Amino acid sequence: MSFSRKRVAILISGRGSNMRSLVEAARDKHFPAEIALVLSNVASAEGLKFAQGQGIATELVEHKAFSDRESFERAMQARLEAHGIELVCLAGFMRVLTAWFVEQWRGKMLNIHPALLPSYRGLHTHERALADGVKIHGATVHFVSPEMDAGPIVVQAAVPVLDGDTAEILAARVLAQEHRIYPLALELVTGGFTRIDGARVHVEGREDSSAALVCPKG
Ligand code: GRF
Repeated sequence: MSFSRKRVAILISGRGSNMRSLVEAARDKHFPAEIALVLSNVASAEGLKFAQGQGIATELVEHKAFSDRESFERAMQARLEAHGIELVCLAGFMRVLTAWFVEQWRGKMLNIHPALLPSYRGLHTHERALADGVKIHGATVHFVSPEMDAGPIVVQAAVPVLDGDTAEILAARVLAQEHRIYPLALELVTGGFTRIDGARVHVEGREDSSAALVCPKG
């Protein structure tokens, strides 16, 4: 049976640990996506070195080199098209995207956010969760919509907030789950198991149709 893997680009700005989890998942030849490109807007992004070491194509498009957001994004778009990219994964990509760019990738761009959306959009999610005294926190993979940290949710994982947690301890507990749910979400989307229906993503055609992971022990 012929099987064509979707060509995926991962956009990063720094460490790239989520990128790495996607690269590792896509090593399996049965995984429905191949990581065809890692693109960064920051030359010193640690993740770029890892990708190069894996023999993955990389591109650097520095936002600093452009006078406005859209010309930066048009340069990224040209690179994505040159590599024949079919789906984009944002993974710690620290630039706000314009509605123009988001529209180019409607239904074809995922993001990972370190909180249970729609709670704690934006930055410093772990500090804010601790300050609020919530008992449950987590991570979300969602399709990107023009509004920041919003869009149909594909997978979420929940972790407990424990007495004595610092933002660093909580971040590490959440990050471990991010590394599980991003590959799962990419597999569901590129494998054709998801259908967007307004705000809801239906997972269909899989025995295990659950798109939520609850991790009581963190
Ligand atoms: C992650 O916590 C991700 O959820 C957020 O930015 C962080 C990136 O970490 N969007 P890494 O670069 O993937 O290690």
